[in-house]
Amino acid sequence: MLAIAGCLVANIFSAIHLWTLLLAALTLLLLNDYLKNKCSKNYPPGPWRLPFVGNLFQFDLDLSHLHLGIQPFVKKYGNLISLDFGVISLVVITGMPLIREAFIGMEQIFMKRPTLAARNHVFKNNGIVFSSGQTWKEQRRFTLTILKNFGLGKKSLEGRIQEEAHHLVEAIGEEKGKPFDPHFRISNAVTNILWSITTGERFEYDDNQFQELLKLVDETSCLEASKATMLYNFFPSIFKYLPGPHQKLFSNWEKLKLFVSRMVDSHKKDLNPDKPRDFIDAFLIEMSKSSDKTTTSYNEENLICSTLDLFFAGTETTSTALRWALLYITASPCFLAEKVHSEIDRVIGRGRQPSIDDRDSMHYTNAVIHEVLRMGNIIPLNVPREVTADSTLAGFHLPKGTIVLANFTALHRDPKEWATPDVFNPEHFLENGQFKKRESFLPFSVGKRGCPGEQLAKHELFIFFTALLQKFAFKPPINEKLSMKFRLSITLSPVSYRFCAVPRQ
Ligand code: HEM
Ligand SMILES: *[C@@H]1O[C@H](CO)[C@@H](O)[C@H](O)[C@H]1NC(C)=O
Repeated sequence: MLAIAGCLVANIFSAIHLWTLLLAALTLLLLNDYLKNKCSKNYPPGPWRLPFVGNLFQFDLDLSHLHLGIQPFVKKYGNLISLDFGVISLVVITGMPLIREAFIGMEQIFMKRPTLAARNHVFKNNGIVFSSGQTWKEQRRFTLTILKNFGLGKKSLEGRIQEEAHHLVEAIGEEKGKPFDPHFRISNAVTNILWSITTGERFEYDDNQFQELLKLVDETSCLEASKATMLYNFFPSIFKYLPGPHQKLFSNWEKLKLFVSRMVDSHKKDLNPDKPRDFIDAFLIEMSKSSDKTTTSYNEENLICSTLDLFFAGTETTSTALRWALLYITASPCFLAEKVHSEIDRVIGRGRQPSIDDRDSMHYTNAVIHEVLRMGNIIPLNVPREVTADSTLAGFHLPKGTIVLANFTALHRDPKEWATPDVFNPEHFLENGQFKKRESFLPFSVGKRGCPGEQLAKHELFIFFTALLQKFAFKPPINEKLSMKFRLSITLSPVSYRFCAVPRQ
């Protein structure tokens, strides 16, 4: 009897207990949300959000379309919109004047990167792309010096790109005009450029180990943008206990780190302090110079993370852009490719390799490449920044810690700026046959945190693209329609496609 009573009491108690807990939790959440809104008076407007999950369900969990998905909101709320996803509060800036005001006018406040749970899990505050403070300053400055010394602005890098373009042309020629998917040959070529700057090596296109690495990099980029990874970022304390693609992401990163750390070890063996061969050598020399390990970021962890950062930031992006370029030129009306072909024939001819100096006399080809970057729009919402202090933008209050995105899609598809915003049209960058720069164009972002690889990327795009069109006419396979759909990885990239590279007569 006593036992039964005891059991009943316990049951009732636990039932009440559960309800109280739930109620208390809900009240706290609502209160928290209420306080959050109340405390940040004059916070930028945004769609109504649910407690805890924020705007998550308004996007139907399809965040890959976030760069397109909130058009109605922009119309309703203006150029500064706030959105909440779990622990993340962000604002999206739209329009050139506001982007410039934030990233140039108030650059000190908008320079930081947020700590995103998934990234933090693997990199901590190391490397260059997502680090902040002293580490970022040192790593970025060092990277820029290396890009200068081992290439940028020097003929030697141009030579390397030309040599690689030659290999790419040969590899594509081996397909003998039959339909094929150019994806990994292109990433192979582009990766070799960055790989040779950082590690001094290039890989043959049929090297199996390298193909494995490229697949791992591609898979990792996709996982990086997966829903599971986003949910992990929004609700880290829950998702860290759950299985899923984000766990695969972490183990992939560990593999990649191991790969680089083996490279570092082999560099240590034959390092000549007077003759750095590449980024890793130069970093090792810098490491040996700094005696106080606690105050500098020159340590092995940063070496590995910065190498991976350069590798990812510099290869995914550029090879994606090149794949878009070949896709657009193949899918567009023939006269477009014909114009590029005849410009190449006129300025370079068929025999000699294209060089970067040719660009000044190749207005049409240059316009095509810019148009590819506009339409491809491969980094649609920039890489997130975070404000380091309470600040005011467009009359709105941004509390310290707010995450800031910039809507580049809105610039690149603005109907007021572009004659045919949704159609691939190189005339956008031409005036009386001359190349013309455009205001509303920011594929590389702006300011002190903008892309440090812009020049390198443009050199690569010009030389690879021109070298390929010098030798081939690209055609869709018979009876296949080319899809212009995109998939989201670290970048917006074309879904895989096949075409025929027909040698030019
Ligand atoms: C078509 C090619 C490329 C595009 C569209 C692109 C675009 C961008 C964008 C939009 C950012 C964010 C900047 C910001 O927060 O304001 C960025 C950052 C970065 N990019 Fe690129 N990029 C490209 C190629 C490259 C290359 C070739 C390199 C290699 C050196 C590179 C290295 C980086 C690095 C290291 C960062 C982080 C900078 C920092 O946080 O300080 N990128 N890029
Ligand atoms: C960015 O701009 C595009 C084009 O105007 C719009 O469709 C999209 O909803 C915007 N996205 C965000 C997150 O502001």
